[in-house]
Amino acid sequence: MIQSFDPTQLTVGDLQTLLQNAVAPRPIAFASTIDKEGNPNLSPFSFFNVVSSNPPILLFSPARKGENGGLKDTYFNLKEVPEVVINVVHYQMVEQMSLSSVSYAKGVNEFEKAGLTPIPSELVKPFRVKESPVQFECEVQQIIELGEEAGAGNLILCLVKRIHVQTSILDAKGQIDPFLIDLVGRMGGPYYVRTIKEALFEIPKPLGVMAMGIDQLPEHIKHSPYLTGNELARLGGVEALPTPTGKEPKAIDFEEAKKCIEAGNILEAFRYIY
Ligand SMILES: Cc1cc2nc3c(=O)[nH]c(=O)nc-3n(C[C@H](O)[C@H](O)[C@H](O)COP(=O)(O)O)c2cc1C
Repeated sequence: MIQSFDPTQLTVGDLQTLLQNAVAPRPIAFASTIDKEGNPNLSPFSFFNVVSSNPPILLFSPARKGENGGLKDTYFNLKEVPEVVINVVHYQMVEQMSLSSVSYAKGVNEFEKAGLTPIPSELVKPFRVKESPVQFECEVQQIIELGEEAGAGNLILCLVKRIHVQTSILDAKGQIDPFLIDLVGRMGGPYYVRTIKEALFEIPKPLGVMAMGIDQLPEHIKHSPYLTGNELARLGGVEALPTPTGKEPKAIDFEEAKKCIEAGNILEAFRYIY
């Protein structure tokens, strides 16, 4: 069974809840801005992602408030000073990040409210968050306003000018180590996720290989009630079917094939079923 919704028939609140529960986990931009008087502001935004590598562009959206359609201080600051430092949020600072999202009056310094340390940027006026493991100094390239109703987003396209990374999260090759960065993401309602070791898994990509696809698998494999979609995708990830073993149908052993797939031995898996 499936339940379908017409967004125009939902309240703004219900629609927002539905969208945020389904589009998750979302990364969090901890956005540091400054107004023209030089008052700093720090607020989290999970309508956030990287949308281009060359040029390097980050996108986040300080939306109009759901209650009254009012605009947020971050938006006003960016109109006055079109620069922002986007700091990523790791587990060690998640409560402070949450505290900073309280709707303080314009001009209130959330660095102080949340007990975080402002440090000067190299190229832009807003401060960096010292505690954050990665800080992006950005120039605002464009602001795209999506409407004037409550909940309407304002897309802030940010050109990355400088990237600061704490060396404690780098691996031997100088790349950010997913096991060390300990990022958090936003789910719906009050829920977050944390990228702990147990939550991470690898999918070996069929790089350099023109994967044949699930559609090319023999019918008895493709329609097997024993194999999951994930297992079929692993089998379909090979370039071509191996030479058949000429197995009698009764000798086919899906259980052994599943074990091989789990262990990453795909060609071995075929030997039990093809
Ligand atoms: C984890 C988290 C993510 C959030 N994401 C967004 C978002 O993407 N867009 C938004 O408008 N508000 C978001 N909020 C709420 C803002 O942080 C909040 O409205 C904040 O007070 C805005 O501050 P400002 O008025 O100083 O800009 C989020 C809050 C939290 C805790």
